Amino acid sequence: MSPELKDLDKLMNCRFSCRGFLTKAVEQKFIDQIIETAQKVPSWCNSQPWQVILLRQETRELLSEKLVYSADQAFETPDIDFPKRYAGVYKTRRSTCGWQLYNAVGVQKGDREGASQQMAKNYEFFGAPHVAIITTPKDLGAYGVLDCGAFITAFTLAAAAIGVSSIPQAAIAGRAPIVREVLNIEEDRDVLCAISFGFADKDNPANSFRTQRADLDEFVEWV
Ligand SMILES: Cc1cc2nc3c(=O)[nH]c(=O)nc-3n(C[C@H](O)[C@H](O)[C@H](O)COP(=O)(O)O)c2cc1C
Repeated sequence: MSPELKDLDKLMNCRFSCRGFLTKAVEQKFIDQIIETAQKVPSWCNSQPWQVILLRQETRELLSEKLVYSADQAFETPDIDFPKRYAGVYKTRRSTCGWQLYNAVGVQKGDREGASQQMAKNYEFFGAPHVAIITTPKDLGAYGVLDCGAFITAFTLAAAAIGVSSIPQAAIAGRAPIVREVLNIEEDRDVLCAISFGFADKDNPANSFRTQRADLDEFVEWV
């Protein structure tokens, strides 16, 4: 492995989805650096379709309050349809990472209340001091979403490179009308997800596990 690939692989290994943050803020110059690095990803026609809405403390608290208030409404109203179903290997992988989280935080099988309380922590942004809401132009369709996905991944990696932990949260997109109203998002854009970020609370049990990846022969084909 070249030293560059080793460095990248190390960075990829140290990133994880953080679900418990310290209150300590990240200096704005570091937030700018994360975004400047993340925006170097490729996008179709270099359209750079991501719009990044950074929430100030009061806005974050207001949005969180409204999301928490809506938490007992089971139905989701995302701008972009959520997955129809997870079947086969996708179902297995989803269940495995879900149980890793539940085992870490002590939610037992059948404990629906515990599971929904853990889910509701999404609406408190897991205590993160910073939240970025990512939107994409409706006109660019699936390829705009694809480009934004690249940006989101690069954001999490750039953050990890300077010791800042993060988590992309599609859960927030399930309440898109609330996000749109609070943040005054134009109708021609879709709410994709939040990225909550800050410094990881290493003692939080939700941060105590790491997910696995499939072997190459499960998903790589030479034809
Ligand atoms: C687009 C996207 C949306 C996600 N939404 C959520 C979410 O709403 N809540 C959550 O706890 N984790 C969410 N995650 C985190 C995934 O569960 C996590 O990336 C996956 O289990 C792999 O674990 P890792 O990120 O720690 O490697 C999301 C990740 C992505 C990429």
